[in-house]
Amino acid sequence: MPIQWFPGHMHSTRKAISERLPEIDVVIELLDARLPGSSANPLLAELTRGKPALKVLNKQDLADPDLTALWLTHYQAQADTQALGLDASATAPARQLVAACRALAPLRGGMVKPLRVLICGIPNVGKSTLINTLMGQRSAKTGDEPGITKAEQKLVLANDCYLYDTPGMLWPRITVEQSGYHLAASGGIGRNAYDEEEVALALLASVRPRYGARLQERYKLADIGALGDEALLAELGRKRGGLLPGGRVNMQKAAEVAINDFRAGAWGRITLETPDDFVRWWAEGQARDAQRAARREALTRKKTPDRSLRLAGGDDGIGEPQSEAD
Ligand code: G4P
Repeated sequence: MPIQWFPGHMHSTRKAISERLPEIDVVIELLDARLPGSSANPLLAELTRGKPALKVLNKQDLADPDLTALWLTHYQAQADTQALGLDASATAPARQLVAACRALAPLRGGMVKPLRVLICGIPNVGKSTLINTLMGQRSAKTGDEPGITKAEQKLVLANDCYLYDTPGMLWPRITVEQSGYHLAASGGIGRNAYDEEEVALALLASVRPRYGARLQERYKLADIGALGDEALLAELGRKRGGLLPGGRVNMQKAAEVAINDFRAGAWGRITLETPDDFVRWWAEGQARDAQRAARREALTRKKTPDRSLRLAGGDDGIGEPQSEAD
C-alpha cells in the first residue's frame, strides 16, 4: 500500500466523539458522492453503531447521478438510516438536512428536548462549506460550555436543534487498496502522502470502464480500448503534460493533469465505485488482513517456541524447562 499518512488529530477527535455520543440523537456522516464507500470512516461506524444515521452524499454536483441514486438506495435500506445527496453550497437543499434529522428522531424537538446532531466526515469532504451554508449569517458558537472540547464546536441551527461539529477525521490504516487511491485522487489525503503517478494510474483504471469515452473526448484520443493504464496516462501526457528532452513523456505532469482534471469535474460527473464494488473490495481487504495476521502469528510462533510445550510443572503452567529427551 503506497499511501501512508499521519492521521493527525484522530485520537482527540475520536475521544471527543465518543464522549459526546451518549447525548446525541442523530449522527450525520458527510461522504464524498464520488466515492461514498471509500470516504466512509470505519472507525466512525464502530463508534456510532446503533445511532440513527444520516448519510449525506456531498459534492453530488461532481458525481454520476445514476450511481448517486444507487448509493442512496443502498443506504436507505439500512436500519435507522436516511440518505440524501447534496451540493454543500446550495442553501435550500441544505435545509432538508435538518428535516431528515427530525424524521430520524421524532421524539426530540422543542425547547425541553432539543434535537442534538453530531456531524462527522473526512477532511476536505465539504463540512465547513455545509456548515457555513446552514448557518448563513449566524455566527458559530464555540466551546465555552463545560464538556465541549476544542475538538468540537456547538452550533445552534434552530432554537431546538444543535449541531456538534467535529474536525475532519481519517483512520490510520486503509484495508481497501482502491479506497486509498480514491481518497488520494479526490483530495481527502494530503499530497505528501502518496505518489501522484501511482494514484493517477489507479484513477484511470477506475474511471475508464464506465467513462472511457469521456477521456477519449477530453484528450482527443483515438480508441483507448487497447491501451494499458500506463500507456493511457502517457497518451494523456503527450497531449497535455508536455514532453521531456528526448521526447519522453513527463509522467509526473501527466499524473497531475489527470488528478486535477478529475477533481475539477473536467471529465464530467463521475463516481468511482458502486455499492457492489465496495462490498467486494471490503471482503477482499478483510481476507488479505486475515492472511497477513495468520502469517505474522506463524512467524512469531516460529521465532518463539511455545512455552507450554517447553515448560512443565504446576497448574499455572510455570515449571522447570524440559529437555527434548523429557
Ligand atoms: P472540509 O471542511 O470538510 O475540510 O471541506 P471544505 O468545506 O473546506 O471543502 C473542501 C473543498 O470542497 C472546497 O474547495 C469546497 O469549495 C469544495 N466543496 C465543498 N462542498 C462541495 C460541493 O458540494 N460541491 C463541490 N463541487 N465542491 C464542494 P476549495 O475551496 O476549492 O478547496 P480545495 O479543494 O482547493 O482545497
